[in-house]
Amino acid sequence: MNILGIDTSCDETAAAVVVDGREILSNIISSQIDLHRKYGGIVPELASRKHVESINYIVDQAMLESGTGFEDLRAIAVTNRPGLIGALLVGVAAAKSLAYAHNLPLLGINHIEGHIYANFMVHDALPFPHVCLTVSGGHTLLVEVQKEWRYEVLGGTLDDAAGEAYDKVAQYLGLGFPGGKVIDDLAKQGNPAAIEFPRPMLDSGDYQFSFSGIKTAVRYYVDNAKSSGAMPPIEDIAASFQAAVVDVLVRKTIRAAQEKNARAITLTGGVAANSQLRASMSGAADSLGAKVYYPPINLCTDNGAMIAGIAYHQYQTGQRDALDLNASASGSILEQQERNAS
Ligand code: KG4
Ligand code: ZN
Repeated sequence: MNILGIDTSCDETAAAVVVDGREILSNIISSQIDLHRKYGGIVPELASRKHVESINYIVDQAMLESGTGFEDLRAIAVTNRPGLIGALLVGVAAAKSLAYAHNLPLLGINHIEGHIYANFMVHDALPFPHVCLTVSGGHTLLVEVQKEWRYEVLGGTLDDAAGEAYDKVAQYLGLGFPGGKVIDDLAKQGNPAAIEFPRPMLDSGDYQFSFSGIKTAVRYYVDNAKSSGAMPPIEDIAASFQAAVVDVLVRKTIRAAQEKNARAITLTGGVAANSQLRASMSGAADSLGAKVYYPPINLCTDNGAMIAGIAYHQYQTGQRDALDLNASASGSILEQQERNAS
């Protein structure tokens, strides 16, 4: 069963054709990073306009590369929540037009459920329950996946997302945007114990996160170091900052896995590409007898394949949306779960 999946929730215009929720025939992702780089972050209005320019071309490419036609599709799925509202609306409008023109069912998909699903596309028989950490520029969410499409949200960020902290710190250090990969690479040459940055909420006893304090601590540290003329190597700042972020992510995720008796931990979202996060999480999980899974990078970051993938399962449970489907900036996976169950 072929499904076309569309995602325009943030700064990637993405479309993919997926068979039976797993076999990816095409997965086209057009990043807008070059457009936003000079502003040091995503500018929502520019993102929406760029999606408008790109969406038809990206859908055409996805169909072309898949070697299939609209007559071979069973449904059209689109991220309609959560995300940047103007950006989401472009994908939703495109999906509705295509569904109407080709007389195909339409499904509105929760973006976070798509991220969680990405691991199911590439790993056979993920054990239940498992704990999924979604970490990107826009999200930090820890969820227990109890069984297929049944979740308990354990915690999330109270302020910045983990990737956002990477991007802001990279900005203070003059490393450009986005900053995750640059900091990851620099950190490999630095001493993670050189500077003791705070680990906010590490002992809060819950699964909530806060990254804005780490970011601000780096900012003060750099300002002071510059004014006193004693700036340490940038590699040490990168490694010490990364150590603080990864420490909090790993310890809270491992604690959750322990409490939930999870035999697996899945990572997803752009920050799941981080080498230290992967290594530390795998090391810590080993001692629990649990295994860490993550998808390839083109399924970690925003993409249409994960949207078409989860839509396959929702289609089978009879979910359909009408042509008055709307977009929403917010949207919990729990509300989707209720829909999955009904
Ligand atoms: O999932 P994504 O492409 O977009 C959304 O935010 O939805 O994630 C992008 C984020 C950026 O904040 C980027 O700096 C971060 O992922 N990132 C990384 C790495 N690669 C990308 N963060 C840490 N280490 C990396 N290797
Ligand atoms: Zn995302």
